[in-house]
Amino acid sequence: MELLVAVGEAFDAAKMIPVTRAHAASSGQEGDLFFVEMLARGGARCTIPTTTNPVVDFEYFQNIMNISEEHAEASVAWQVKRYYKEIGAIMSQSCIPYLAENIPQYGEHVAFSESSATPYVNSVIGAFTNRESIQTALAAGVTGKTPEFGLHLQHERYGTVLVKVETELKDGYDYSILGQYVGKKVGNGIPVFEGITRRPRIDQYINLCAMMNVTGAIPMFYIPGFTIGAATTKDAFGKDTPRDTITVSKEELKRTEQELQTTTGEISLVMLGCPHYNLDQIEQVARLLTGKKIRPDIEFWINTSATTRIMAERAGYVKALDEAGARLITDTCIDMFCFNNLRGKTGMTDSPKCAYYRRFGNVRVGSVEECVEAAVKG
Ligand code: F3S
Repeated sequence: MELLVAVGEAFDAAKMIPVTRAHAASSGQEGDLFFVEMLARGGARCTIPTTTNPVVDFEYFQNIMNISEEHAEASVAWQVKRYYKEIGAIMSQSCIPYLAENIPQYGEHVAFSESSATPYVNSVIGAFTNRESIQTALAAGVTGKTPEFGLHLQHERYGTVLVKVETELKDGYDYSILGQYVGKKVGNGIPVFEGITRRPRIDQYINLCAMMNVTGAIPMFYIPGFTIGAATTKDAFGKDTPRDTITVSKEELKRTEQELQTTTGEISLVMLGCPHYNLDQIEQVARLLTGKKIRPDIEFWINTSATTRIMAERAGYVKALDEAGARLITDTCIDMFCFNNLRGKTGMTDSPKCAYYRRFGNVRVGSVEECVEAAVKG
């Protein structure tokens, strides 16, 4: 509570308000361990549903990493998991908890950290959250409170920058590149998109949200007509006028994509699922790989949540992926040490965020179709 009050004072919050769910973007890093261990040793318990981000599925990785149980248990990531469990957090270990394990309602005040989660729950669901840190989200999970400032106040939720999209967005990958570009241009603010004529799919929203928070700090956005809270561009800005206008052309997106490439030529791994893939995306990869084989010298990883994997198993997608040589793994992400063995390798991904956090060496970024083709042909 002291931490939350201090944050509230820094932002001139008038009072504390109740929140009814939280998501802590637990990371398996030392700062995370310091805080959650302190809470656990002090006897704290989560009083509202509080989910966690990917850490590591040790059972799955023990063989691959070739580490002993004692070594795993001594690791920071293991301790982080242990203490989160001890304080009663929900061990979702997913960066898209708002699709399954922890879904806010419209108008609900919550405390969500994680790059895609904050803008998604504000803009697509219409809940109220600030762009929390792991620690403030966890403190809110324990106290059930947050300081009332920023996006918890209706008058702070108006658009600040107009983004005119003058090119067609075909797939989730295009939304990733759009997010990468807009985050960089806007920096800090609430973009209002004009020119998007088709309702984005869920994975397209997720990619846009995540990538805007790789290059920028974007807690919320509007696509009037599709997202919640503003039927028109004028509504999205309220009485304010945009502080800036950005135009997105096909050439700008191409340039943004080019900036992400650090290599060309042969690859030795493909990494998908940053943010975690949902069931539709897994189905797409399974379909693209049907009747094909990934080259034996190429590793192919797809990250997802445990709940999504269960559905993928039931649907037969996991079998199809296995047969092609792809691995669908849960509870972890590229940012974790379990992928240290990829250091120095040349990888390909459909995610600018994965390219940013890459544990491997050089990187190529491309659509999921291009990633699959590269994995099959090398
Ligand atoms: Fe999720 Fe890790 Fe990417 S938390 S968004 S898979 S860097």
